Amino acid sequence: RATGDLAGRRVVVSAGGTREPLDPVRFLGNRSSGKQGIAIAEAARARGAEVTLVAANLEVPRPEGCDVREVSTALELQRELVDAAAGADVVVMAAAVADYRPAAVSEQKIKKDASDSGLTLELVRNPDILAGLGAAPHDGTLLVGFAAETESDEERLLELGRGKRRAKGADLLVVNRVGWSEGFAADDNRVVVIGPDDAVVTQAHGSKASVADAILDVVVSKLNPAAHA
Ligand code: PMT
Repeated sequence: RATGDLAGRRVVVSAGGTREPLDPVRFLGNRSSGKQGIAIAEAARARGAEVTLVAANLEVPRPEGCDVREVSTALELQRELVDAAAGADVVVMAAAVADYRPAAVSEQKIKKDASDSGLTLELVRNPDILAGLGAAPHDGTLLVGFAAETESDEERLLELGRGKRRAKGADLLVVNRVGWSEGFAADDNRVVVIGPDDAVVTQAHGSKASVADAILDVVVSKLNPAAHA
């Protein structure tokens, strides 16, 4: 029997970055390695939770002791995540999900034409998975979203995070400043967690494992409010 402050809880985490195919050999993607999502899955496991990890194109080894569901595109991630989220106590959306995908996937490798000077791609919107979960009835499921933002101004960063929390119906929103060498793929991270009343609940920086535990401390306090009153 698991012990720890998440024992008996079912936690679903998404990690990595989606890839949207253009043709059999090319895709539109992003630089998420999956490290932060995996660190959250591992920390939740260590704290006693039963963990499902929906993993999009991870560049690092899969964690032990978790039910890992491999996906690649945003639509695949949506299908697995919505399935896993039913009845979960916590859903953490750490994956970097493409907002758009190519309108058509070419059956053959796209060829360049000697006479063309460029190529225009038509993209269509992907569903917003977190917003979909937030808009649907989800009593008893704590929704944790991320906001990856490149703003350097701290107040503006928080403002964007608060807007995203409300727009997506998340209970907690982890604001993650990202850039060429920050957030994505790095070993360390710096985050601010915003709560349901838009107040800053906690801030953390350091290894992605320590950031994961700081986020889960907030999750546990929301799951067991009486113990933290
Ligand atoms: O994987 P690493 O290399 O360790 O990097 C970690 C990270 C920087 C990717 C991670 O900490 C992070 O910030 N993840 C969220 C990335 C992201 O897509 O942020 P966003 O601001 O575009 O999206 C906001 C939220 O909505 C996220 O929870 C995202 O998962 C979700 N979303 C976004 C688009 C979409 N179509 N559906 C979604 O559910």
